Parts: sequence; structure tokens; C-alpha cells
Amino acid sequence: MLVYRTFSDLRKYLDQKDLFGKTIGFVPTMGALHKGHMSLVQKSNQLCDISVTSIFVNPAQFNKVEDLKKYPRNEEVDIQMLEVNQCDVVFIPEVDEVYPEGLVSPKVDLKGIDLRMEGKHRPGHFDGVVQVVGRFFDQIRPQKAFFGEKDFQQVSVIEQMERVLNYKVEIVRCAIVREDSGLAMSSRNKRLSDVGLTQAVLISEQLQWVKNNFNFSNGNEIQRALEKAFKTDAAMELEYFEIVDEVNLQPLKSTNNKARAFMAVELEGIRLIDNIALY
Ligand code: PAF
Repeated sequence: MLVYRTFSDLRKYLDQKDLFGKTIGFVPTMGALHKGHMSLVQKSNQLCDISVTSIFVNPAQFNKVEDLKKYPRNEEVDIQMLEVNQCDVVFIPEVDEVYPEGLVSPKVDLKGIDLRMEGKHRPGHFDGVVQVVGRFFDQIRPQKAFFGEKDFQQVSVIEQMERVLNYKVEIVRCAIVREDSGLAMSSRNKRLSDVGLTQAVLISEQLQWVKNNFNFSNGNEIQRALEKAFKTDAAMELEYFEIVDEVNLQPLKSTNNKARAFMAVELEGIRLIDNIALY
């Protein structure tokens, strides 16, 4: 596996004559890789000739300095895991490489997709995501890019960005990968204690309960029952729970809408998110 740290070195490789006409699959990550990320790399390997994974903890998308500082990092283990999963190239830039002085990023109209849930609770978060993914798309010019649906709202934001800026990159949505316990895989899980890992299972259990009990007319009841379940659990604080139309991430208008439930909780000072389709 090739390791590059600057856009110019990566471009030199991708611009080689032998690679002309080959399809590039791009898997953007912030490292602390797990099986969820590997499912994206495997999908890219299946659908593309060359898989490029980036590892970059993007300061622009953190609205709390503490969260950025504590974000788990383990480059050596990440590289090994990517090698085992037959990724072709890993790109690991420094902050100055991604954000050189004077860089101007386009402002994208996200059509309100960014205003609820993660957007509401992490002001500026999606602007930072759009900025970094746009920068990578500009430089790497992949044909396809792979994103996990654990960050469902993020994938919708990226799709909107792609439409507005017309990158001609196919955004490939990949299913959430879960632990046997049901907990959605996340780099942040690495910061949970053993007790926390057991407690966190409540998130997917509650989402499954919502899926089993939701119908278009009982949304308020479901909301109250869910809030109660988290209030009785002293360890976890529910930040938000919302059921919305998964197409535009706005409140449901009719039974024809594809409903999806989203939540964010805080456990041991760590923010965890998950979602589930209700159809
Ligand atoms: O999902 C993530 O890990 C990040 O938001 C992404 C897409 C790599 C952008 O920094």
C-alpha cells in the first residue's frame, strides 16, 4: 500500500500514464479505523480499480476544542488495517496541506438538510465537513466516494454538496456496521469503558423498539416513551431524538414519507449517534 502525505505526491501517482482510465474509489475517514470503515474500503475495492483512503482529523468540523483533542488517533494500526484490507493508497495530510493560507472554499446552499439534529447541536459542523470533503474531491477527483449511513445526515449533506458543486462523484451509501451487541461501530466507541460499552447498547435497543412500535400517528407517544427510557438511565443523556423523512430530513408529512429515527446521546462524556429506518 502506498502512503502519501501531500496532494502533489498523491496526484503524481494518480496522474501516471498506466492509471489512465482507471476508476478511483475514495474513502474519507478521520482514522481510528474499525470494521465499519473496512466495509467502505471493501466496497470501494469491489466497485473501483484503485481505492484511496484518507486519514485526516478535520479541525474545521469540531465545534468543541476538547472533542478535537480527545478524538482517538492511531496511525500505525490504521495503516496495518488498511493494508490487510487491500487498500491501494492511504493519504495522511497535515492540517496546513489541507488548509493552506488563503484557501477559499465555496459556500454551499445545503437546502436546510444541515439545520436539524447534528447541524443544530453542532453549529458549523457540516460547513467543516463540506469544506474538507470538497477539498479532497477537488484534489483526488474520484469517480465514487463511500460513506457510512451511521452518519446518515452527513451523507445527505455530501449528496447535496455534490449536486450544487457538480463534482460528478457518485456518492455510495453503505449500511451501518454493528457490534454483535447492536451498538453501531464508531471510532468514538474506543473511548468508552467496558461498562460504557455495555450501557451504550441501550441506544440500538431503543431504536429497534421504535422501529417495532412506530406508526405515522403515534410519533408523539413514541417520543415521550423514548425520552422516559433515557431519563431513567442515569448514565446516559439524550441530546436529541427525531423521526423525520429520510429524503429531506424534515418532519413527516404523510404516510408515504420514508420515516427514519435519529438520536444522539452522551455517555461518559462521549457523544454517540445512531439511526434506523422505520419502514
Ligand atoms: O465521517 C467522517 O469521519 C468525517 O466526517 C469525514 C467524512 C471523513 C470528513 O472529515
